[in-house]
Amino acid sequence: MSLSSQPHTFRLSPADYGHLVEQATVAPEQYWARESTRLTWSTNPSQAHCTKDGWFPGGVLNASVNCLDRHLEKRGDQHALVWQAEETDRVVTFTYRTLHERVCRMANVLRQQGVQTGDRVAIHLPSVPEGLIAMLACARIGAIHVVLFGGFSPEAIADRLADSGAVLVITANMGRRGPKRIPFKTTLDAALDLRLEALAVRHVLVVSVTQDDVDLTTGRDMWLTPLLNEAPADCAAQDMPASAPLFLLYTSGSTGKPKGIVHGTGGYLVWASYTHELVFDHQEGDIFWCTADIGWITGHTYGVYGPLLNGGTILLFEGMPSYPGPGRWWSVIQDHKVTTFYTSPTAIRALMREGDEVVQRHDLSSLRVLGTVGEPISQEAWSWFNDHVGGGRCAFVDTWWQTESGGIMISPVPGAVREKPASATLPLPGVHPVLLDERGAPKEGATEGVLCLRGSWPGRALTIWNDAALFERTYLQPYPGYYFTGDGARRDEDGYYWITGRVDDVINVSGHRIGSAEIEDALATELAIAESAAIGVPHDLKGQGIVVYVVPRDNAPEDLHVRAAKAITSKVGRYAAPERIHVVPDLPKTRSGKSVRRLLRKIACGETEGFGDLSTLADPEIVATLIALIQVPK
Ligand code: WT7
Repeated sequence: MSLSSQPHTFRLSPADYGHLVEQATVAPEQYWARESTRLTWSTNPSQAHCTKDGWFPGGVLNASVNCLDRHLEKRGDQHALVWQAEETDRVVTFTYRTLHERVCRMANVLRQQGVQTGDRVAIHLPSVPEGLIAMLACARIGAIHVVLFGGFSPEAIADRLADSGAVLVITANMGRRGPKRIPFKTTLDAALDLRLEALAVRHVLVVSVTQDDVDLTTGRDMWLTPLLNEAPADCAAQDMPASAPLFLLYTSGSTGKPKGIVHGTGGYLVWASYTHELVFDHQEGDIFWCTADIGWITGHTYGVYGPLLNGGTILLFEGMPSYPGPGRWWSVIQDHKVTTFYTSPTAIRALMREGDEVVQRHDLSSLRVLGTVGEPISQEAWSWFNDHVGGGRCAFVDTWWQTESGGIMISPVPGAVREKPASATLPLPGVHPVLLDERGAPKEGATEGVLCLRGSWPGRALTIWNDAALFERTYLQPYPGYYFTGDGARRDEDGYYWITGRVDDVINVSGHRIGSAEIEDALATELAIAESAAIGVPHDLKGQGIVVYVVPRDNAPEDLHVRAAKAITSKVGRYAAPERIHVVPDLPKTRSGKSVRRLLRKIACGETEGFGDLSTLADPEIVATLIALIQVPK
């Protein structure tokens, strides 16, 4: 698609964009100093680069003031948040003024419950306004929010509560998922019971999302609504240094233990505002819908902070894409005149299956920018989304970034960067990707390699909670002088980037990051399993699916498959359920005892030849044994 076929007026022209790229490269300090003025600071930062104290040292500010208070004069009566409940006829709206009031009340409730500046507060909620309100309320008093994805198992929740040291949890009685109810409170209760002695949780506040009653533990649990109604409607905001943690968000890496990625206040907010404006071409009157759950970084940066910092209107939808019937998402876009729609390739693949006719029944002419994130998108899915949902009229931004980057890094800029279907295209001004060979030397021109980043950017995570050394080991030491992303990429002759996927042992299931080691650690808790290996294989709908190999101990029970599956879903969560579990006599290993995942992947995909030199294996015969054993369903 050429730029000229897009009838919209975008903020930036190719020339403007070129100018930004040049400024950010030639005079970065001035560039970021200017970008920092997007925020309202109590004390301006003294520097605009990364120091040992993070970005924008000397700066003092409050995140909720930046999202709310400073908009009150100009936009007090503008919608800040429009919540579409699962019931089609239920919509709850918040203006900047009413959202400000709700956030202040919530902040006062947190204070009353003894939450101090710097404390961690966990948020475990479905897609209801209270999630966003709780995040901003934490920010208002300088508490650090830790949002826990609703799909986590009790064990996964307990681990994260223990690691973060959260003192209070905000949860729901139930969540809605189509006709089903998701038991948020009982899941949390199970998590709290598991690790009682290791946890610092003193209070649990419960949002009544449904009419269902749940057990409250006296002295610990309280319904939130009465507390909110009684709390004062104003709350002074706590001034925070730019480098103070704003939130922790757990993500998976090569080790079994989930990492609490720490994002700071000043740098993160500059990045959220900068990238939201640039990539989504934010304009007055936009209605921004990001379908990601607030349990993931996308929900933080583009479901909450970015749009509010820029004075936009957020649409939040409680429900699912196809409930009560196909096309529900399209109805939401039509009914709320959504201008900017940000979703995942996984969702697009599922919606494509419903057929074009469902889309055509809706008026989607309000759309101006379409975006995707989380995994590579195929050219087929890109074109379908562009043509059928965007009507060929919209800008399409395939955005590459990660939890650790805080916000978008490589993406087209509407009106300014020509798209190529399924390419994340070019780095944003101020972002410097490099492709390295295995030895860590940069490769020039059209090539393929390990994707690293040169220099810092304001949105970069500060560290890993409780483990600064792991941050260094994971991101900074693998390729000295560069930040290691964990991804591989190809660069074409136009300098465009094409992300090829993870080069570490991280599996991307429907855009959810799951470490092989996380699954293997879960399997290690099942006594009948001697060892295991988890790998990712291509999956039509999910992008990647998980295949697990388990080696039983002697006298292992018959139902080992069932036990293995249960170990994974109970330790990690249902979203990590494997596609297939193979019980095998052994794994292909090097002489030093490391499983060779490359071979396991090929075998799981049904390949029977082209395995290369097997002589370095401790037991080369095992490959033929596994091939014979594993019948891959076609
Ligand atoms: C990993 C980060 C960033 C928010 C959602 C996921 C993969 C992300 C793309 C894209 C190809 C992508 C990468 C990355 N990824 N965006 N546009 N094209 N791959 O955040 O859970 O931290 O996962 O998602 O592999 O490293 P995350």
